[in-house]
Amino acid sequence: MIELTGVNKTYNYGKPNAFHALKDINLKIESGEMVAVTGRSGAGKSTLMHVIGCIDSFESGEYSIAGKPVSGMGEKGLAKLRNERIGIVMQDFALIDHYTVLENVMVPLYFSDCRSGAMKQTAIDKIEMMGLKDQAKKNVKNLSGGQKQRVAIARALVNEPSFILADEPTGALDSKTADDIMNVFLELNKKGTTIIIITHDMRVADLCSRRIVIEDGRIV
Ligand SMILES: Nc1ncnc2c1ncn2[C@@H]1O[C@H](COP(=O)(O)OP(=O)(O)OP(=O)(O)O)[C@@H](O)[C@H]1O
Ligand SMILES: [Mg+2]
Repeated sequence: MIELTGVNKTYNYGKPNAFHALKDINLKIESGEMVAVTGRSGAGKSTLMHVIGCIDSFESGEYSIAGKPVSGMGEKGLAKLRNERIGIVMQDFALIDHYTVLENVMVPLYFSDCRSGAMKQTAIDKIEMMGLKDQAKKNVKNLSGGQKQRVAIARALVNEPSFILADEPTGALDSKTADDIMNVFLELNKKGTTIIIITHDMRVADLCSRRIVIEDGRIV
């Protein structure tokens, strides 16, 4: 389903402070796979996720989704793809601080064709799925780290994406809550959702069917 061939990503490309973060990445992930990405801090995991999620560019190589090169999709096509097919949980959550939980989770729906009544219900369902029913009307800036993390996951799930990219989605959670979240991912994967999880937690990695290790910008 997704295929990267010889992908290189350099931050500040062509400038004196250039940093070569992804080196000759060759990676194929089939539809319906559940893959763990591991590696040391600074290895390039989040960078790889941003490239796969089409939220960051790269200077060389090919990246295609379902056989279509991302480079030929145009800004509009990419925005549509990101909104309808890809669910991303960012490492720093990237929530809107002065919005409530419900408002945050509803954000991706404003860019889709969903009707407003159905929209709200879909968002509420995902919030409940994350165990945050009682927090829905709270401002996210008043939540704990683990609660914010679960809001970010609910928002990533709200458009029922066909693939989910999650950057340490259980990093701020206790082991019981982490297990609950992993069960949600496992259930979605059983129904066919492709899932890529960056993690430092070997228990999480072991639940995935494949593991990719990144070292110094390369897949090893
Ligand atoms: N915007 C940027 N500009 C310059 N360098 C960057 C930028 N973002 C990341 N880097 C560098 O790229 C390398 C890879 O960063 P990345 O965030 O992908 O690591 P990571 O594997 O996700 O680490 P962690 O486990 O700590 O989250 C690091 O050396 C980092 O300093
Ligand atoms: Mg990271």
